[in-house]
Amino acid sequence: MSEQDSAVLVVEELRVSRKEPGEGQGLLSGISFEVGNSEVLGLVGGSGSGKSLTVRACMNLLPEELRAEGSVKFRGTELQTLGGKHMADYRARDFGLVHQDARSSMNPRRTVGDFILESVLHSRMLSFDEAFHSACALLRDVGISNPEARMRQFPNELSGGTLQRMMIVAALLHNPKLIYADEPTSALDVIAQSDVMAILLEQVRDRGMALLLITHDLDLATASCDQIAVMHAGQIVESGPAGVITSHPQHGYTRRLLEARHGTALPGNSEPASNSDATKGTN
Ligand SMILES: Nc1ncnc2c1ncn2[C@@H]1O[C@H](COP(=O)(O)OP(=O)(O)OP(=O)(O)O)[C@@H](O)[C@H]1O
Ligand SMILES: [Mg+2]
Repeated sequence: MSEQDSAVLVVEELRVSRKEPGEGQGLLSGISFEVGNSEVLGLVGGSGSGKSLTVRACMNLLPEELRAEGSVKFRGTELQTLGGKHMADYRARDFGLVHQDARSSMNPRRTVGDFILESVLHSRMLSFDEAFHSACALLRDVGISNPEARMRQFPNELSGGTLQRMMIVAALLHNPKLIYADEPTSALDVIAQSDVMAILLEQVRDRGMALLLITHDLDLATASCDQIAVMHAGQIVESGPAGVITSHPQHGYTRRLLEARHGTALPGNSEPASNSDATKGTN
């Protein structure tokens, strides 16, 4: 089986650094992982570990002051060397992006319908009427009633949970191969969190899409993901099947995440987070 058949995204030795010389220049140091077809991979780590930078580097969306090196292949095509126009095409056609906070990602002066339809209309895949009807059908699928009226509302008229569902619809509407979801529920209350996460997973699984789920929550990742990669200080310190990572953690940082989750120390866990017993790799 070729790489293209087996993996949607293959990231190898991805490094991100500041262009300006100086201390702390390196932000990601040699990240490698794969997301298989229809697979859900959880990238789990604490604040500042480099999760969002990884997503931005994979989408060629790093800010001007940062530089990426290494390889990011989407279905066999190297993205790191693609020009802006080609990369924009990939983003519009093949990727969906769900941010942490839908409200701050939407223009308050434009309707949520404008936001949802933007990508699919930009790529000219559907006419306005087709896109509007597809969006309404999808909004119903994610539990939003009277979607025609909702599409004409402004972000400040809707709850955080409803807006987050709308953002999921915007990410799904053009039927991408891969969804990046960066802390998609952490701005919501706990009830809305579990509803929105269930909706995202159901839609992704039903449509056979791959999902890269960014979270600091190991419980959430264990419940939602096929594979987990644990990030710490700009590196993947451990990766593998979700059940194995939590039942047999190999790295001290993973154990610390587990301890924090259970509020107890695990037997034999006295290593500092920076120990070197990582099982780096791409599974
Ligand atoms: N534009 C930038 N210039 C310089 N450093 C940056 C830039 N963006 C991010 N960083 C640094 O890179 C590191 C990783 O940031 P990143 O946003 O990826 O963390 P994260 O794991 O997503 O954290 P969080 O869970 O808080 O969102 C942090 O130390 C951050 O300060
Ligand atoms: Mg982040």
